[in-house]
Order: sequence, then C-alpha cells, then structure tokens
Amino acid sequence: MYLEELFGLGGKVAIVTGGGQGIGQVVAVGLAKAGAEVVITCRHGADETVRLIEEAGGKGYYVQCDVTSEESVDKALAEIMEKSGRIDVLFNNAGICYHKGTFEASIDDWKEVIDTNLTGEYIMARAVGKIMIDKGIAGSIINMASMSGTIVNIPQWQAAYNASKAGVIHLSKSLAIEWAQTGVRVNSISPGYVATPMSIDPNFVEPELMAAWMPLMPMGRMAKPEELIPAILYLASPAAGYTTGSDIIVDGGYSVQ
Ligand SMILES: NC(=O)c1ccc[n+]([C@@H]2O[C@H](COP(=O)([O-])OP(=O)(O)OC[C@H]3O[C@@H](n4cnc5c(N)ncnc54)[C@H](O)[C@@H]3O)[C@@H](O)[C@H]2O)c1
Repeated sequence: MYLEELFGLGGKVAIVTGGGQGIGQVVAVGLAKAGAEVVITCRHGADETVRLIEEAGGKGYYVQCDVTSEESVDKALAEIMEKSGRIDVLFNNAGICYHKGTFEASIDDWKEVIDTNLTGEYIMARAVGKIMIDKGIAGSIINMASMSGTIVNIPQWQAAYNASKAGVIHLSKSLAIEWAQTGVRVNSISPGYVATPMSIDPNFVEPELMAAWMPLMPMGRMAKPEELIPAILYLASPAAGYTTGSDIIVDGGYSVQ
C-alpha cells in the first residue's frame, strides 16, 4: 500500500514514444503494470506491445506518430486527449543511431539523427508540456538520453548520436528549470548498452563490434531493458515530486571507469 502511494500510477495516462519494440515496449508494459493507461506512439504500429500490456492485465492503445513532424505530433496528441482526456507522463524514448566515421557520414545522416533524437524529443516535450501546463497537470516528462551524452563510445564512431544525447541531457535540464514552477517535472535517463534491436541486431551491430564492447562493460554484460523500468517508474511517480532536472545514469558503471 505504501509502495502504491509512492510509486503507483493508477488513474494516470502515460505516453511512450517508439514503443513498438525495444526499451519502449518493455517500459510501456512496466508503466501499465504500475497502473497507468499507456499510449504507445510510433511510426509503424505496436500490436505486440498492446498485446503484452493486455496480457499483463493493463490498459493501452496505439497511436501513429512520427516525432520528427510537428503535424504528426499535434494530430497524435489531439487523438490521445480525445480518447484519454489527460496526459500525466511522457517517456520520450524514440531514437535512432548510425555507426559511421565523420567523413563517411553525410550531412543528411547527421540531420536524421539530430532531427529524431534531439529535435524529436523537443517537439514532443514542448507539445506535451503545453497540454500539461494548460490543464494544470503536475506531469512528468522523462527524456531518453544515453551514457553517450557523457562518454564517447568506442570503437564505433557515432558523433551525431553522442551529440544528440548530450543535447537531450541539457535540454531536459533547461525545460526543468523553465517549467519548475508549473508542476511539470523534466528529467532524463542515461542507460549504457541495453540488449535491444539497436544494440544486438546483427544487421546493425557486427559480431566484432559486440566482442569489442563486452570487455568495456564493468558488469560483463549489457542491461536487460527491464532493468530500466524502476528508474523510469520513479521519475514518473509521485515519489519523484522534488526531482527535476536530473539525469539518472543506469549504465552498470560504464561511465565511471
Ligand atoms: N539500446 C541501447 O543500447 C541504448 C542505450 C542508451 C540509450 N538508448 C536509447 O533508447 C531509445 C530506444 O532505443 P532501443 O534500443 O529500444 O532502440 P530500437 O531501435 O529497438 O527502438 C527505437 C524505437 O524508436 C522508433 N522511432 C525511430 N524514429 C522514430 C520517429 N521519427 N518517430 C517515432 N518513432 C521513431 C523506432 O521505430 C523504434 O520503435 C533510443 O532513444 C536510444 O537512443 C538505447
């Protein structure tokens, strides 16, 4: 009961962007288990996430949304407000990465990553923050950063990704202070390597790269996506009422080496 009081999300509506797979999918189920109605937004459907939420006894539905487009975000939020009437939590998770040296990557590669990871999170946070403030909702926005916002991963090069995540950390702090007196809290989370399609799909990560990463991980393994749920649940919940402008690092010790 006491834990419910601190961490329960009953009666709350939470949006998870990029929730069709990977971290977003697992966290969406976790938020639903904590009592939230979860809206999964992504570009290409999220039937499996909705199925997993319902299987766990939770409530959730999918709304199509491309975070790089203001028009798409506004349309999705209008649909969510019509269906659910409020938004209490935004887990701003959608993101992409490429591994290319700076001279191999085109400016379009750079723009695609910045547009998705940084501008996309800004567009979502700005639009959701406006709704929360206008409706007087003491909401929580949790932006997905990464340890790559602080350290530089090796041996792959990913300057745009690292820069986008550093931007997310400081964007979160900036919005946290700008909105501190409105009741809306803004924080970020910075995971290390997490076992999801982005980090283990052989079409994206060559086996040699994986072999190079492993000895760099102090715990000798990647995080399971489930291991991010508690930090996100904390930031989403009443327990974090005085936590804003923070970046919670969940990287198994990687960034302190
Ligand atoms: N996997 C890791 O090791 C790791 C580590 C630190 C941070 N992260 C971050 O976590 C987040 C989720 O990553 P993941 O590992 O689950 O990756 P993933 O590739 O499995 O999932 C990313 C999701 O984002 C969606 N997406 C991409 N562009 C979008 C857009 N324009 N609009 C809407 N949705 C879009 C994808 O469709 C997908 O559902 C990303 O922001 C990533 O940078 C991942």
